[in-house]
Amino acid sequence: MSFIEYGDTIKDGDTAIVFLGHESMFPVKVQHGTVTQTKYGVIRHSTDLIGKKYGSKVTCSKGGWVFILHPTPELWTMNLPHRTQILYSTDISIITMMLELKPGSIVCESGTGSGSLSHALIRTVAPTGHLYTVEFHQQRAEKAREEFREHGVEHLVTVTNQDVCKNGFGVSNIADAVFLDIPSPWEAIGHAKSALKAEGGRICSFSPCIEQVQRTCLVMEEHGFTEINTLEILLRVYNVRTISLQIPDLGKAAEDNSSTGFDSSNPSSQGSPCTDLQRGTVQFKSGMPLREMVGHTGYLTFATKS
Ligand SMILES: C[S@@+](CC[C@H](N)C(=O)[O-])C[C@H]1O[C@@H](n2cnc3c(N)ncnc32)[C@H](O)[C@@H]1O
Repeated sequence: MSFIEYGDTIKDGDTAIVFLGHESMFPVKVQHGTVTQTKYGVIRHSTDLIGKKYGSKVTCSKGGWVFILHPTPELWTMNLPHRTQILYSTDISIITMMLELKPGSIVCESGTGSGSLSHALIRTVAPTGHLYTVEFHQQRAEKAREEFREHGVEHLVTVTNQDVCKNGFGVSNIADAVFLDIPSPWEAIGHAKSALKAEGGRICSFSPCIEQVQRTCLVMEEHGFTEINTLEILLRVYNVRTISLQIPDLGKAAEDNSSTGFDSSNPSSQGSPCTDLQRGTVQFKSGMPLREMVGHTGYLTFATKS
């Protein structure tokens, strides 16, 4: 197993994702002789996991079952242990596209945080690119190194434990792209410029507050960055639900003169609503947005060094 290439079978030492149901999953480190407790009972790694194919349905001791999934950066983002606030796949996807990342790209990042973005960056630049990631919190830097080792991607990433605003990224003139997720990104713009290739490259800075964006844009301009652009991406998720609506009782005259507008003679036909005149309801499938409001994650400011 590695986060950058698919492996067919579950092996000792792998990080696998135990999928219990919609929005209910967790990562597990596969180890001979170890057991994992779930609400459906115990999973025994030696007999239930090792040697089985990824995607298998595994029966737990109480008779319930789970699926064991191959890890991906997206699943890791949904399940990783949080050491900091993290970036989610909606922002990550636009960052990847707008920084023009591809296999072979050299990327600088700070801070590493919980490594959510790092895993996605590494997967995109593999097998020939490299990520230089800078984190000034020592334990976070060490934990990130340990996870990259466990996930089989350590050869694609260098973690440096230093202050990016004071000491930069530890490399110069080699990066195709730079990404910043720190409280004072404007203090690192000069270092980002020196890390980027002499012929140019792309930069992105993620900030929750508009005042941080204003300062960052001004400093980007002072350093000669062009095409400065700030945007926000909002994800709207829909659940597919059967909706049941009451048919209004308009009296006898209205019933005689009009139809419901729906094909009640064939209530089960696909796509048409199902009327239940006796109970006075009409049922149909619809996409329903979730109840919670879509929240602000942060502003993404992109610019070009040319
Ligand atoms: C919000 S977290 C980054 C989360 C990361 N993007 C992810 O997806 O997991 C910000 C991190 O930047 C680190 N940091 C803040 N200022 C820094 C600086 N000047 N130099 C290096 N790291 C810094 C913090 O310790 C923290 O771990």
